[in-house]
Amino acid sequence: MIYKQIINQYPIISEQITTNKLSIILSNLENILQQNIDGDIVEFGCYIGTTSLFIQRIIKNSTIINKKRFYVYDSFDGLPEKTNQDISPIGKDFKRGVLKINKKKLLLEFKKANLTPPIIYKSWFSQIPEVALPSSIAFAFLDGDFYTSILDSLKIVWPRLSFKGQVIIDDYNRDALPGVSKAITSYFNPKFNFKLKSTNNLAIITKINNS
Ligand SMILES: C[S@@+](CC[C@H](N)C(=O)[O-])C[C@H]1O[C@@H](n2cnc3c(N)ncnc32)[C@H](O)[C@@H]1O
Repeated sequence: MIYKQIINQYPIISEQITTNKLSIILSNLENILQQNIDGDIVEFGCYIGTTSLFIQRIIKNSTIINKKRFYVYDSFDGLPEKTNQDISPIGKDFKRGVLKINKKKLLLEFKKANLTPPIIYKSWFSQIPEVALPSSIAFAFLDGDFYTSILDSLKIVWPRLSFKGQVIIDDYNRDALPGVSKAITSYFNPKFNFKLKSTNNLAIITKINNS
């Protein structure tokens, strides 16, 4: 596993992710790559690329012959409007337009890091056209903060996720962002074949059957 070395070697460029969370995300990603699970890698809610830079480094350093493609999606207009599901007395700072950033800033971070940028789509998750999506997904990181953002990204990712593929969702069981856990609960019908593990406010969901 090279994720520890990569985390030690490069800076985390914003407060959007911690070292602990990054270790969990990257170790799971490395596992998926080592198993050669079919499909590409996606991130919904990339912002300035704090996590994307590390995901790209793991892909670049993987030894599999057919390198996976990496797609990232963001409105680049910041967070959408909250719904009732997102309301929390300690989450008042998360509001419409927060985390707005120019896509050029993301490209600049990849340039500074001397890394090939991912395939970048500027769109609200609910409006991403079919052609902008990989047909098969091996690993997804969902970081959209709000109920509709997580639900919309799950609706896209889960049907495309391969058997043994994984979705990691940030801000699970986090009091300031209650919509995240609510979206997961409302999407995952008990009939679905999934295994959910939770640690450090991350939900790690594995597809354990092709449904
Ligand atoms: C917490 S930030 C992501 C941080 C990022 N993963 C990182 O490591 O730097 C959330 C991002 O999701 C985007 N976002 C939230 N809901 C969205 C939606 N419904 N459609 C498109 N983008 C959305 C916001 O614009 C914001 O950039």
